[in-house]
Amino acid sequence: MRGVIDLRSDTVTKPTPGMRKAIAEAEVGDEQKREDPTVTALQERVAALLGQEAALFVPTATMANQIALKLHGRPGDVLVAEEHSHVLVFEYGGAAAHAGLMTLGLAGTAGRISSAQLRAAAEPSTKAADQRVTVLSLESTHNNAGGRVWPIRELEDVIETARELGLATHLDGARVLNAATALGVEPAQIASRFDTVSLCLSKGLGCPLGALVAGSHELIERAWREKHLFGGAMRQAGIVAAAGVYALDHHVDRLADDHARARGLAEALAARGVPIDLDRVETNFVQIDLGRIGLERDVALASLRDAGVGLSATIHPTVIRAVTHLEITDTDIDRATELISSTLLLGAAA
Ligand SMILES: Cc1ncc(COP(=O)(O)O)c(C=O)c1O
Repeated sequence: MRGVIDLRSDTVTKPTPGMRKAIAEAEVGDEQKREDPTVTALQERVAALLGQEAALFVPTATMANQIALKLHGRPGDVLVAEEHSHVLVFEYGGAAAHAGLMTLGLAGTAGRISSAQLRAAAEPSTKAADQRVTVLSLESTHNNAGGRVWPIRELEDVIETARELGLATHLDGARVLNAATALGVEPAQIASRFDTVSLCLSKGLGCPLGALVAGSHELIERAWREKHLFGGAMRQAGIVAAAGVYALDHHVDRLADDHARARGLAEALAARGVPIDLDRVETNFVQIDLGRIGLERDVALASLRDAGVGLSATIHPTVIRAVTHLEITDTDIDRATELISSTLLLGAAA
C-alpha cells in the first residue's frame, strides 16, 4: 500500500525508529527457561496495568485468547460469547479445536450482551445435565461492532451475573487500552474484573507482534504449560518484548489521538453526506454503510484504493471501515476525507 493512506486496520503499522532502537538494544535470555529479563519486565508491567497478578507473553492475541479459553473449560463445556466476537468468528473454531468447547453465540447490541441473555443461555440443559455453560468471553473494544466499548456499569452487571452463575470470565482485551482511553478510566478498572484478559501489542500499540494473557498466579502458571503445548514457548523473545515495553512507555497516551482523528474523519465525512452513524464512533474505527448509497463493497474498496486510500471490508456485507493508527496524521485525515467522500459520492451518483 505504498503511497496510499492505509486505513485498513491498526495492525498495518511498522515499528517506529524509537521502537527499532529499543528492539536493537534489548537485553535477552532464554524465555522458555524464564530467563529473558525483557519478557519478564513486560509481563510484570502488563499484569500491573491490567490489575491482574501475573501475565504471560505470547506471539499473538489469538493464542492469548485460546490459551485462556483452555484454562477455563473442559471438552463438552459451553463457551458463551457475543455472536460476532473475535473468538467465535475469526479464530477458526479454536475454542472447539483446542479446548473442546461447544460455543454459543448470543445476538448482541454494539457487541454487548445483557445479563438476561446470559442467564437464559446458562439455563441447565434438560438433556445432558453436565453439558453446561462454564465460560463467558466478552470483547472490548469490540472489533466487529466497529470498535465499540462496554460501559463500566453494563460490564459490572454482566460479570456479576456470570459470577453468580459460577462461570469463568475472559476478556478479549486485544484493544482494551482503547476501551480504557475512550472511557477515561485506568485499564485495570475494566480488566481486573475478569479471570483472564488478553492484550494485543500489534494493534494500536504499534508493535510488530506480540500479546499477553493475564490472570491469577495460579492460572498463569497453567498458561505457561498451555503456551508450550501450543508451540509458543520461545527463546530470546526479549527482542520482541522490548517493542512492547517501548509501546507501553510511548504509545498508550497517544491512543487518544487515534480516537480524535477517527472522530474528525467521521464528522467530516458525515458532513459531506457519507453514510456514517456518528453515535457509533467511539474509538479508532469509522464504519461506512454503503447500503445506504447503493454501492457494492468490493467495487467501492477497489475505487478507494485506486484513489489513494485503503479501507477494508467488515463481516457486515455492506459496511466498510477506516481505522486510525499511529502512522496516520492530521494531514492524512484531511486528504482521506477528500478522497473517500469524492470517490464514494461520485460512485453513488454514477
Ligand atoms: C478483538 C480481537 N481479538 C483478537 C485478535 C487476534 O489478534 P492476532 O491477529 O494478534 O492473533 C484480533 C485481531 O484483529 C481482534 O481484533
